This record gives sequence, structure tokens and C-alpha cells, in this order.
Amino acid sequence: MEKFKEMAFLHPMVIVLAIISGVYAGFLGWKRFRFRRGLGSASDFPWKKHIQWGKRFYLLLWIGSIIGVGALFYLKGTLLTSGLHAYLAVLILLLFSIGVVLGGKLSKGKGTNRLALTHMAINYSAFFFVLIQIVLGVIFLTFFL
Ligand code: HEM
Ligand code: HEM
Repeated sequence: MEKFKEMAFLHPMVIVLAIISGVYAGFLGWKRFRFRRGLGSASDFPWKKHIQWGKRFYLLLWIGSIIGVGALFYLKGTLLTSGLHAYLAVLILLLFSIGVVLGGKLSKGKGTNRLALTHMAINYSAFFFVLIQIVLGVIFLTFFL
């Protein structure tokens, strides 16, 4: 049966939407980080909007990743065979899951500034791995599919 090779593009497209949402959530979070250090005012940080975009990001990240696994299975009939791209995906999902759990605590008003800072450090550093993942993904898409 003829396969739809275009399926390979669905995953990167959803991931790009996720990354845009995540960067925006991170940008909103940055406003809080700034006012805590005397730059700008407390009202600059849109609490609800930050949570909304954070959730949107996390949901899209999972949907995109599941589509990635599904697409590779559909195209090649194999599971988790992309090597480093698959391992990094596990690390990325793990880091953001921890970041989001901490975000959930913060959103219940149970957080300290230290927790907010930990939440920030984990989420921001996970984006470093996302950058590597983009490079790997483009190589994968170009040469191996
Ligand atoms: C569902 C996801 C998320 C939830 C529920 C959430 C929740 C929160 C909440 C409630 C605060 C304010 C804490 C307070 O005022 O006490 C906060 C701060 C912050 N968040 Fe998130 N967040 C989420 C995702 C993210 C993501 C993806 C990023 C980065 C890309 C991020 C970066 C930050 C930053 C930089 C701060 C300010 C830290 C500080 O002031 O030290 N958050 N988050
Ligand atoms: C946060 C970023 C990303 C995560 C968490 C992620 C995750 C995944 C996962 C879990 C798989 C399945 C791997 C397997 O079963 O071995 C996959 C496959 C794949 N990824 Fe990614 N990925 C990300 C970004 C990207 C980007 C930016 C591109 C391309 C521009 C890309 C291209 C691919 C390709 C071509 C596949 C093969 C299956 C398909 O095309 O859907 N990935 N990815």
C-alpha cells in the first residue's frame, strides 16, 4: 500500500506550534522575574495568561511527540528508532513535566520565590535541549526519511 510520506511533516509542524507557545510563556514569565528584581511592576506579569500558554505549550508538546512516534511507526513500522532524537525527547518531556508540576504548585499559590526560580531554571534549560532537537530533527527529516 502506498504510504503518505507527508505524514512526516505533521510532527514538526505541531512541535513548532508548541515551541512558539512555550517561548511566549517563557517571555511572560520573564516579566515576573524582572519585577522581582525591581525592574517593571508586579502588574506586568499576566499570571493567568502565563499559565494558559504554559498549559497550551505542554499539551502541544505531548501531542507533537506522540505524532512523531506514530508517524515513524506508520512510515517504517518501527518504534523509537531515531536514536538521539528519541532519547532527547524523553529528557525534554521529563524536564518540562517537572517544570509544569512546579508551575502547578505555584499556580495554587503554594510557591515561594525560590520555587518560582527553580521552575524557571528547569523550563529555560530544557529549551537548550529543544534547540539541539530541532537540529537533529531537520537532519532526520532531510536525510533519513
Ligand atoms: C503549565 C505550565 C506552567 C504553569 C502552570 C506555570 C505557572 C507559573 C506561576 C503560577 C508562576 C508565578 C509564581 C508566583 O508568582 O509565585 C510562574 C512563574 C514563572 N514561570 Fe511558569 N508556568 C508554566 C510554564 C512555564 C514555562 C513553559 C516557562 C518557560 C518557558 C515558564 C517560566 C516561568 C518564569 C520565568 C517565571 C518567573 C520566575 C521568577 O519570577 O523567578 N513557566 N509560572
Ligand atoms: C521539542 C522538540 C521535539 C521533540 C520532543 C520531538 C520528539 C520526537 C519523537 C518522540 C519522535 C519519535 C522518535 C522515535 O520513535 O524514534 C520524533 C520523530 C521525528 N522528529 Fe521530532 N521532536 C522534536 C522536534 C523536531 C523537529 C523540530 C523536527 C524537524 C524539523 C523533528 C523531526 C522529526 C522527524 C522527521 C521524526 C520522524 C517521524 C516524523 O516525521 O514524524 N522533530 N520526534
